[in-house]
Amino acid sequence: MLFSQASCLLALTTVVAAAPYEKVEKRWGGWGGNGRPWWTPSSASSYLEFGKRYPGSNTAAPTCDLSQAVLPTAPTPLPAPAAGLSLSHVAIGRGTQNYTCDLTNSTAVPVAIGAVATLFNVSCVAADSPDLLAKLPGIALDLPVPTTDNEDSAAYQDMSGHHYFLDASTPFFNMDTSLHSYGTGAFKKTNTSSAPSDAPLGQYGVGNGSVAWLKLDAKTSDGQIFQEVFRTLTAGGNPSKTCTGMPAAFEVQYAAAYFLFEKP
Ligand SMILES: *[C@@H]1O[C@H](CO)[C@@H](O)[C@H](O)[C@H]1NC(C)=O
Ligand SMILES: *[C@@H]1O[C@H](CO)[C@@H](O)[C@H](O)[C@H]1NC(C)=O
Ligand SMILES: *[C@@H]1O[C@H](CO)[C@@H](O)[C@H](O)[C@H]1NC(C)=O
Ligand SMILES: *[C@@H]1O[C@H](CO)[C@@H](O)[C@H](O)[C@H]1NC(C)=O
Ligand SMILES: *[C@@H]1O[C@H](CO)[C@@H](O)[C@H](O)[C@H]1NC(C)=O
Repeated sequence: MLFSQASCLLALTTVVAAAPYEKVEKRWGGWGGNGRPWWTPSSASSYLEFGKRYPGSNTAAPTCDLSQAVLPTAPTPLPAPAAGLSLSHVAIGRGTQNYTCDLTNSTAVPVAIGAVATLFNVSCVAADSPDLLAKLPGIALDLPVPTTDNEDSAAYQDMSGHHYFLDASTPFFNMDTSLHSYGTGAFKKTNTSSAPSDAPLGQYGVGNGSVAWLKLDAKTSDGQIFQEVFRTLTAGGNPSKTCTGMPAAFEVQYAAAYFLFEKP
């Protein structure tokens, strides 16, 4: 069966835009993958299917050569990766940005305390279909976080690992699972750039905008494979501007594409 990337994506986004939440979730639950590396996505499937290699559109067979993937450029560009590093992995992160509000302070603003996200391998999409990659965070944001609770599930097999914070200023990537060992790494934020003005406002098109694009550098240069991480193509995650009406702690749904670079 011939598969046209563009029409499939259109079908999927149409489903997401038109369907109520329950319907999207039902479609999600209905997708029972079998972990095969070759897969033909259909309109009744999830964004995770794009993480698999597919037999190609009508034009060209995918090569999944990570050196072909191009780091997206922010409107105000972030610094380039350091010379000598090579792209190791590209993952969609889907989870929440967490914030706190000081309720004793009437002029307080939300303070970011970290993010929690599940990471899914889209390295081949980044290599073969950058235009498709650019759409994935927005699609992922409107779908629930996939359940990865058992090794046999398709979502588990697509999972790169987990992203979370060791403390308020130390984002961590754990890309080792029972199925692979891509690596781990602790980072510090070294640069930030506003998301493009047309980035999603939030889940289902409602919210306070998309979190900034970031450059993260390894906290210590040795002992970990990943040296730099770029958070790009962000979708959602921004808090309200003030703490008025907000609880002491809250989460905002987000998705992003993480580009992880390694030492040769
Ligand atoms: C962020 O990167 C830009 C572009 O390379 C640079 O001009 C700016 O000084 C950097 N900011 C920080 C805080 O390092
Ligand atoms: C952020 O939210 C997630 C999801 O509810 C929660 O599991 C996690 O503990 C929170 N993290 C922090 C640092 O508050
Ligand atoms: C209240 O919040 C504002 C905005 O973050 C901050 O500038 C100010 O120092 C805070 N006041 C107190 C007493 O913490
Ligand atoms: C998953 O990531 C690895 C690199 O860490 C890559 O070699 C592999 O092809 C990726 N798989 C998919 C389906 O993108
Ligand atoms: C901004 O964020 C707050 C808290 O998440 C939410 O209550 C509010 O509706 C958002 N604003 C818009 C315009 O969606």
